Amino acid sequence: MLTRRSFVRLLGLGGGGLWLRHVVGVRGALWARAQQAVDVDITLVARSENIQLLPSGPATTVWHYAATLNAGDAGALEPLPNTYLGPVLRAKKGERWRVRFENSLPGAEETTVHWHGLHVPDDMDGHPRFAIAPGESYQYEFPILNRAGPYWFHPHPHGRTGPQVYMGLAGLLLVSDDEEAAAGLPSGAYDLPLVIQDRTFDANNQLVYSADINGFLGDTILVNGRPNVTLSVEPRSYRLRFYNGSNARIYKLAWSDGTPLSVIATDGGLLEYAVERNYVTLAPAERVEVLVNFGRWAGQTITLRSLSFSGATPGFSNNTTLPNGAQFDVMSFQVASAQPAAGTGAHNVYLPLVQRSGKLSTIERYVLDDAVNASNPRTFYLYFTRGEWTQNGRTFELTATAPDEDVRLDTLELWEFANEVPPGTNGTNNTAHPMHIHGPLFQVVERIPPADATQRANWETVKDGYVDDGWKDTVLLMPGERVRLLIRFEQYTGLYLYHCHLLEHEDRGMMRNYRVQ
Ligand code: C2O
Ligand code: CU
Ligand code: CU
Repeated sequence: MLTRRSFVRLLGLGGGGLWLRHVVGVRGALWARAQQAVDVDITLVARSENIQLLPSGPATTVWHYAATLNAGDAGALEPLPNTYLGPVLRAKKGERWRVRFENSLPGAEETTVHWHGLHVPDDMDGHPRFAIAPGESYQYEFPILNRAGPYWFHPHPHGRTGPQVYMGLAGLLLVSDDEEAAAGLPSGAYDLPLVIQDRTFDANNQLVYSADINGFLGDTILVNGRPNVTLSVEPRSYRLRFYNGSNARIYKLAWSDGTPLSVIATDGGLLEYAVERNYVTLAPAERVEVLVNFGRWAGQTITLRSLSFSGATPGFSNNTTLPNGAQFDVMSFQVASAQPAAGTGAHNVYLPLVQRSGKLSTIERYVLDDAVNASNPRTFYLYFTRGEWTQNGRTFELTATAPDEDVRLDTLELWEFANEVPPGTNGTNNTAHPMHIHGPLFQVVERIPPADATQRANWETVKDGYVDDGWKDTVLLMPGERVRLLIRFEQYTGLYLYHCHLLEHEDRGMMRNYRVQ
């Protein structure tokens, strides 16, 4: 047997990856890609660790992504101390990344790493068909094609994504580019990624999980892996990047004094202009970035709250102390009373930067008439039938697609998700679904409110918090709601996933492939 290194040397390969791929298939392609120069090369290990998460009592056993930098800029990798969250990866658009992943999880736990929101080749996307057994490794390698934005990474094996994310496997992947730099947003210590998750701890500080088919809700709200977070901040502008990293919980984020939120970005990066919302609805896997000037609360403490809403998961059973839609505090900010002397940029600390710069980015708007099916959307009904969550009545199959799941490369399509039971079919649609599409980002073009009066009333409790103005990879549908979106399949052919990102729905089959050819 040739080793991988001698095999490559034997062939004298340099950048021959594409040619080799066609000749010897995916395994050969991995070998060949390894020879291409990359900008950043890291080793990423998923393993069990004991971390002191709670202020007192025993350490908590978690699963953690630990990383080391093999090559590239030191700023590409920022480990976060004392949390289960993985390192913050900082990539620049146009770079090429290599991630040498090792599965060191306990037991028989297979896993993959998915780069949520990034558009990568289908064999680099963490698809469950490339599951990595314990003790095995997989080399991910891809160019960063995405625009600047708050992306992330997490496991994606079939049936075990919920428990693996819950145990701690998730990390942030922040992409930057020149357009974002030109917007002049707060940076460094004034750019704060904040991952919101819910967990339940037992009397020994250990994580409690149950794979409830309706979704798991914890009773303790964590921010970046910590309960009861209060951050000390300066009375100046900050960029806050909120991630909903929860398995099933939806947040309705608002400042406790009713000050509107100034939203500057969503899943796929900066909006064209900031938009104001009295609250923001943030479903599992969604991200929203907010620009806030803490100067208005100098010397005070301001709280970020999740407000009450109704109808997302009626009849929900596993958590009665903190149901989906209950009101609670997420975190607080203790604002210093004065700007520290001689701070850099002190001239503009009380001015929201967005009001100076106005336009944040340029978004090329898709035009409905350019879609190949502009008058005939590709509709996917989301409903519960025969004891399962389904998409058009189907559940997950590892490599199959149905005829309505095949799309063509370089084509703009109109897709429609309908949180409804199709006419003439038995089933129910009484739960919200955050729908996520792998591959290219999309643009939401229309929402059709529920026709049913009760569902309509529930929808009214969250709909003013939707931010559909920019690029998205995940979109929430309340019961009875329809969402139409435009998506262009470009760059890569292959098999990609689209699924509900409520992780217990995903694990129980609410996931399908689509094929680009
Ligand atoms: Cu964040 Cu297919 O997932
Ligand atoms: Cu994804
Ligand atoms: Cu769902």
